[in-house]
Amino acid sequence: MTDADIKKGLAGVVVDYTAVSKVNPDTNSLLYRGYPVQELAATQPVEAVAYLLWYGELPSDDQLAEFVAEERAHRGLDENVKQAIDLLPLEAHPMDIVRTAVSVFGASDPAAFDISRESDLGKARRLFAKLPAIVAYDQRRRRGQEPVEPRDDLDYAHNFLWMTFGEEADPIVAAAFSVSMILYAEHSFNASTFTARVITSTMADLYSAVVGAIGALKGPLHGGANEAVMHTLDEIGGAANVGPWLDEALAEKRKIMGFGHRVYKKGDSRVPTMKAALATLVDHYDARDLADLYNELESEFVARKGIYPNLDYPSGPAYHLMGFDTLTFTPLFVAARVVGWTAHIIEQTASNALIRPLSAYNGPDERHIEGYVADA
Ligand code: CMC
Repeated sequence: MTDADIKKGLAGVVVDYTAVSKVNPDTNSLLYRGYPVQELAATQPVEAVAYLLWYGELPSDDQLAEFVAEERAHRGLDENVKQAIDLLPLEAHPMDIVRTAVSVFGASDPAAFDISRESDLGKARRLFAKLPAIVAYDQRRRRGQEPVEPRDDLDYAHNFLWMTFGEEADPIVAAAFSVSMILYAEHSFNASTFTARVITSTMADLYSAVVGAIGALKGPLHGGANEAVMHTLDEIGGAANVGPWLDEALAEKRKIMGFGHRVYKKGDSRVPTMKAALATLVDHYDARDLADLYNELESEFVARKGIYPNLDYPSGPAYHLMGFDTLTFTPLFVAARVVGWTAHIIEQTASNALIRPLSAYNGPDERHIEGYVADA
């Protein structure tokens, strides 16, 4: 085996087929079950996109009505999940709260070990319905606020914002939030989805795979980047500071959060759509200073390094303007990506092969315990 045989980070390795989504960095496109994600974000509610990712087709009016009714019926937070969250320290990272909450929810499901398609689709749909309540409950808890019950007269996006902030969202805000949820819903074999597929490949249950995926998403090289973008913007402080801040950060070889991508090297296909949604929020909240800082960092960094923003760059400030705590940004990504993860879990189960790559050993040569004599 030579160095050339090692595919560090699995870069460029095609591991399996998938019919869930197609990423094409050459044409800068992302298709969900064949539909460009931009078209879905412009025309569909979050619920219809979730249905598409799970079932392969957009729902008819009747199918959507039935799907939405079930989603609304499952929005409430289970008592044992609430109790488990309340046992955790207020200082715990919200990603740890979400990871634990999903684990408790899964441990309480008597059908957890049933990995049939029918059973897993039911679990996926219930997790999709519950996650907003988990995320909202935790943000309110950390702010010392009482939880807000879900409302079944509101769609997914409006209800999510209602449960988090306790007031009805402006349609501009709900529309931008809905776009972000659709753009975050799926992205082929990214690190967290691949983690979910590895766990599924052992025939472990869906909840174990989702809990593992949440762990993988937490890191700043993946989903944790939307939180890290906001820390970066806070650290820079204003557009006028961008130049000197970048001089120092690049001299220290720091990674600039929200830029770069393993697959897209000419720009992330989702960014223009999210950037347009961010622009509506900037106007709505009259957030010129933040917009100036955002634009200045983007143009300076792209000019210096030729590395383009990824989805986390516009979504971080968008969530900030909506009023979410910075620590809540990656849990929002979980609430959206649970759809993609579970679609992949179901696909992996349907045509499973245990995922078990090889490694090249570079430790000490064979050696022996002094004085040890093997039994004859
Ligand atoms: N800031 C500074 N330099 C960078 C960045 C960045 N954000 N991204 C890549 N580079 C440089 C990197 O230092 C390396 O330079 P050199 O060849 O001189 O060592 C070169 O570009 C290649 O980078 P890499 O890290 O080897 O490339 P990769 O394909 O493994 O990395 C990445 C992809 C996402 C891990 C990386 O771009 C990164 O760390 N970005 C910042 C974190 C981030 O925004 N993550 C979100 C990813 S996309 C959405 C999501 O999953 O949430």
